[in-house]
Amino acid sequence: MKLARMAIVIPIAIILFVIFATAESPTTKLRADADGLALTPPMGWYPWNEFGQEPQNETLIKETAEALVRSGMKDAGYVYIGPDEGICFSRDASGKLTSNLARYPSGLRGLGDYLHARGLKYALYTDAGARTCSKAMPGTKGHEFEDMKAFAEWRADYVKIDWCNTEGQNPEQAYSKLRDGQLAAGRPIVFSLCSWGDGEPWKWAAAVGHLWRTTADICGPGKASWAQAMENTGANEKLCAAAGPGHWNDPDMLITGMSGLSEAQNRSFFSLWCMMASPLIAGNDLRNMTASTIEILTNREAIGINQDPLGVQGRIVRRDGAAEIWAGKRLFDGSQALLVFNPASAPAQVEVTPGDVGFEESAPLYVRDLWKHETTGPHAGNVRVTVAPGDVALLRISKADSFPLPPIIVADSYRADFRARVNTPQELIKAITVRNNGSGALPLWKVRAGLPSWLSVTVSQSGSTQTFTNTVSTGLAKGHYHAVVRADNREPLSGLPMSALYYDVDLEVE
Ligand code: GLA
Repeated sequence: MKLARMAIVIPIAIILFVIFATAESPTTKLRADADGLALTPPMGWYPWNEFGQEPQNETLIKETAEALVRSGMKDAGYVYIGPDEGICFSRDASGKLTSNLARYPSGLRGLGDYLHARGLKYALYTDAGARTCSKAMPGTKGHEFEDMKAFAEWRADYVKIDWCNTEGQNPEQAYSKLRDGQLAAGRPIVFSLCSWGDGEPWKWAAAVGHLWRTTADICGPGKASWAQAMENTGANEKLCAAAGPGHWNDPDMLITGMSGLSEAQNRSFFSLWCMMASPLIAGNDLRNMTASTIEILTNREAIGINQDPLGVQGRIVRRDGAAEIWAGKRLFDGSQALLVFNPASAPAQVEVTPGDVGFEESAPLYVRDLWKHETTGPHAGNVRVTVAPGDVALLRISKADSFPLPPIIVADSYRADFRARVNTPQELIKAITVRNNGSGALPLWKVRAGLPSWLSVTVSQSGSTQTFTNTVSTGLAKGHYHAVVRADNREPLSGLPMSALYYDVDLEVE
């Protein structure tokens, strides 16, 4: 009898093992596992929501980059910037992509160098079909590998690939081919898929790229639509299980700060995007922002829940009248994020319970209001929250009365460039500094092995700033030498890996 039971038990154990191993296999296929990119939702700026195709040009991108730095957005973590469908390249007679020098006089490589020198990362755009949406630029269809090589040569760090003019194409196949092209080109790149949910990318795209649009466009150029923003929120909320470090649902770029929205709508919108761990790609005119827009876009406490290393997408856990209670977003220090969104035209009074955020009912809790920047507590039992019409309360709830911020990495440059004389032995040094604008010091960044013999990199630390000292030993033949440096780190409280840090080193031997 015992033997017979054993005979049944063993095969079941094997079957269960096989089932669990299969269920877990998607996580082992994440693209981000290899490149370490976008382990928190990408932050940056793209021109489309405000400007459409016009007047995108080099001046707009450079002025916006300067505004991004000046406004404090760079210090808050916004880093990826570049033309969207900015009519920035065409295909020449030989099939090769070439920069549109009338609009971008520095050329697309020159624009990338300009951004990298300011500690920003370079974002570009193309399409998986025959042409881009306005048909003003060539799409990648039939040129996937050569186009991804061109993007790598222009030093793009992020590429958004649209889905216009793709009749007869299959999203998974088309985007996988583009992924293969990016890997063949050899430059680490954040891949933003933009099929507006066509082909259900949340089911397969974690192996292909780092983020995928889940919805239709949030607005037409210059026309923020609150109704469309709410529609995108509803659709994206349902997909929460698909998101995590390196693979994000993208309900589209931000409309915060565009004309037609009230301050409460700007705050509510931004809170929802933070709560959903959505990419924070601003879409407003950064050169002309009100103080209120800057305050909302740079609220580091709100950004902290968006950039949390655990990467959980929050969801609606219950409703109280018209008010939505969003939770289910555990944070790296054991605290929990909670959002009360009141879309109604009357104030809402909501009792937040410890159970809403998974704490036992008797736990004394501290509550941090991320818009008022105030901590209250310890509270025993429920906490009453009053929310004005159309507004939000964005809270962090913890058993401890400290609310640390996760890392926000800000570099002074993402490029070190050297010039040397041919066959002249020399040692040249340039430093890149990398600061953590979150709480606490980080461990030392670890530089990946495998640098070329002419380059060595050491890292040293002083408080929240780490310095990468790049030493180039020359005595080399005439020519151009290039290396991409990768460094890795872990967030100390959670022990989770942080997004890999990459920068370019160029050596011109003349
Ligand atoms: C599509 C995308 C937008 C934008 C435009 C550019 O509509 O969804 O985000 O990139 O194309 O034409």
